[in-house]
Amino acid sequence: MNIQEIIAAKRDGLKHTREELNWLAKAAASGEAADYQLSAWLMAAYLHPLDAEETAWLTLAMADSGERLDLTGLPKPWVDKHSTGGVGDKTSIVLLPLLAACGLTVVKMSGRGLGITGGTVDKLSSVPGFRMDLSPEELKAQAKRIGLAITGQTPNLAPADKVLYALRDATATVGSVPLIVSSIMSKKIAGGAETLVLDVKSGSGAFMKTHDEAKVLAIALQNTAKRAGLNVRLAITDMSQPLGRTVGNALEVAEAAAVLTGNEVSRFQELCVDLCSLTLFAAGTVPDLESGRTKGLDALASGAALAKAEAWFEAQGADPSVIVRPDKLPSAPIRKRISAEQAGWIEKVDAESVGRAVVALGGGRERKDDVIDPAVGIEVHVEVGSRVESGEPLLTIHASSEGAAAQAEATVRAGLGISNSEVKRFNPILEFVN
Ligand code: URA
Repeated sequence: MNIQEIIAAKRDGLKHTREELNWLAKAAASGEAADYQLSAWLMAAYLHPLDAEETAWLTLAMADSGERLDLTGLPKPWVDKHSTGGVGDKTSIVLLPLLAACGLTVVKMSGRGLGITGGTVDKLSSVPGFRMDLSPEELKAQAKRIGLAITGQTPNLAPADKVLYALRDATATVGSVPLIVSSIMSKKIAGGAETLVLDVKSGSGAFMKTHDEAKVLAIALQNTAKRAGLNVRLAITDMSQPLGRTVGNALEVAEAAAVLTGNEVSRFQELCVDLCSLTLFAAGTVPDLESGRTKGLDALASGAALAKAEAWFEAQGADPSVIVRPDKLPSAPIRKRISAEQAGWIEKVDAESVGRAVVALGGGRERKDDVIDPAVGIEVHVEVGSRVESGEPLLTIHASSEGAAAQAEATVRAGLGISNSEVKRFNPILEFVN
């Protein structure tokens, strides 16, 4: 087999064989195929999208391009969750200890943020001491002991994706649904879980800007997961406005901690409980979603989720007291309040504008090697449907300088809308995809 024949087949719109895709994934991981050849293939695959069978073959080939994590010996069920990424999405920080408190074993590999969508690695790295570099052996030992463990991406997991993702970024081929699916699912399969819950985000702050686009991605993810033998459940969730009341790394950890202490009832907390319930149901430990919600809410109210979170932070090298003492987290020197210029109902808090402002403040990355400021971000005091009076606070910008705060204000103001007529609040879960 050679790479020219594989490129030519896709250039001419032909269907690949499984052997061709196995070869391609191995050649990408080993360096046998050059970047310019893989780039040519990626463009051909962008113009002639892989069908469902090819997508599943490529996914499995990429999952097998490195090591797979073997969770044998850990108590079942083994679960994992993945979000396609959004602004203010700190769900994993609540969901992982919540699921472990409900008796599941959660081993998760998370990514760093790029662009407006933040990454769990960056959020947890804002907690002094929190290690995101656990080895496979450390991950397994910790999950055996306390039921949960998280790490950043390890080089040996789906290495073909690492190569292809970097090339997609540089060749305008990121937006192909089969390529997105194989990228996400190869890493999840290599991560070893048997049950997977996927949170597909839809809206200006997400990759998929409309519900219809999100649905196409959700169905493609579901198809591939099923072909790969994974037990999968999906939800399409709103990302037209930021998730929760904070965007920015340390601010988001503090918000997640407030949910874990049982002190917060909010749209974000509701999403965490709904995703907990979906995961418990998918894993077969509750008979229906309502029982799952009750179990999740009980784990928050009883302190069981908080105790798991404290054990988790301690196991990964962090001071667990930050969960009840968020004042120990990094904080920015400048606070700038943005107030309503008129009374009315909030009709827009554009997630993309808030996300862009936080990246410009230094809370996210424009380029892969940008350094993050964990303390900066934006507090969002309102949500779509909130009633506000003139002069009431809408947002608070946390910045490292007055100049950065002024620039962020201009960006976020353009994304705010207040209506004279009542606007309805809406649930963050837009649809369950069965
Ligand atoms: N996340 C991934 O891991 N891969 C993609 O292609 C898109 C989002």
